This record gives sequence, C-alpha cells and structure tokens, in this order.
Amino acid sequence: MNYTIRSARPADEPEIERLLTASSLTFEGVSAHLEMFWVAQTGERLAGVAGIECYEADGLLRSVAVKASDRRKGLGAQLCDVVETQAKLAGIRRLFLLTESAEAFFAARHYHKIARNQAPVSIQSTDQFCRLCPDAAVLMCRDFNAQASAGA
Ligand SMILES: CC(C)(COP(=O)(O)OP(=O)(O)OC[C@H]1O[C@@H](n2cnc3c(N)ncnc32)[C@H](O)[C@@H]1OP(=O)(O)O)[C@@H](O)C(=O)NCCC(=O)NCCS
Repeated sequence: MNYTIRSARPADEPEIERLLTASSLTFEGVSAHLEMFWVAQTGERLAGVAGIECYEADGLLRSVAVKASDRRKGLGAQLCDVVETQAKLAGIRRLFLLTESAEAFFAARHYHKIARNQAPVSIQSTDQFCRLCPDAAVLMCRDFNAQASAGA
C-alpha cells in the first residue's frame, strides 16, 4: 500500500478525530495546532496522524496514531521521522511526549523516560499534560542537542 505523508488540512479534522478516537487519544487541541500536524494518506483515506504543540525550543509530540489495519508497516516511524524533521526546522531542540502504550516504540527512537517534574513549565502547563493524559502515562523526552553532541 502506498502512503503519502503531507501537512494536515482543516478538511482532514473529522477523519483525524476518528483516527485518534479509535486509538483512545484525544482530539482536543488539534485544531489550534493543526499547522504542525501531518497525516498519512492512502487513496482517499487517512491511515495515520502525528503532530506537535510548539513552545519555543520545546515541543510536545502528540496524537501519533496509525489505523489498526495499517500498523506494523513502518508508517508510525515514517510519520515520526517527518514530524521530528519539521520540529528541528521550527527550532525545537527537545521533544516531549506522554504515552500509555507505546513506550518501547519511542524508546527505539531515542526518547528517554523522565519524571514528570523534569518537564519544563511550558510542557507541564499543556492540557495534555495536566488534564487530558492519565497520570499513568509515561513522560518521555528526546533532546536533539544532546544527540548532536553525542554524534547520534
Ligand atoms: C504506536 C504506533 C503509532 C506505532 O505505529 P506503527 O505504524 O505500527 O509503527 P511502525 O510499524 O512504524 O513500527 C516501528 C517499530 O516499532 C515497533 N512498534 C510498533 N508499535 C509498537 C508498540 N506499541 N510498542 C513497541 N514497539 C512497537 C515495530 O515493531 C517496529 O519495530 P522494527 O522497526 O524493529 O520492526 C501505533 O501502534 C498506534 O497508533 N498506537 C496507538 C496510539 C498510541 O499509543 N500513540 C502513542 C502516544 S501519542
């Protein structure tokens, strides 16, 4: 199956909401940050989505979701590659995320688990962090600066 990863558009919002709901992720806040969202399209439908909320040099990677029937084909990794590249182009140096079920997926992508109180105030103040994601969600961080100096 061929997938095209492209910037999200307002017309995609209903399908993005369906994708997120099917993955038990919230749609809340997506519209406000849509300019930093990307989708994977195949034919006339969307198979995946991922986005970032930007807070100066820090970003919250969120809404990484692939439709169940399209999983394990590399699409989640491709979406993250695109979003991480765009984050760096936007001047983001650290990406944070909250996950309940995909810790190993992100650990393989250079994200490290950190304590919630280690997140910057801008990230701790997001709705995702303080209201929408359950306390059981793990906080992870990828520091592009540290990886550049380590040669990663
Ligand atoms: C997490 C998710 C986006 C992965 O999408 P995917 O398209 O299946 O991922 P990929 O096919 O690109 O997988 C890349 C690698 O991660 C592994 N992987 C995929 N999902 C994984 C998971 N949940 N846990 C551990 N490893 C996982 C794959 O086996 C693959 O490994 P390989 O390169 O050694 O073969 C998808 O499972 C999903 O939508 N989950 C529900 C929503 C969610 O939890 N999002 C994260 C919080 S925002």
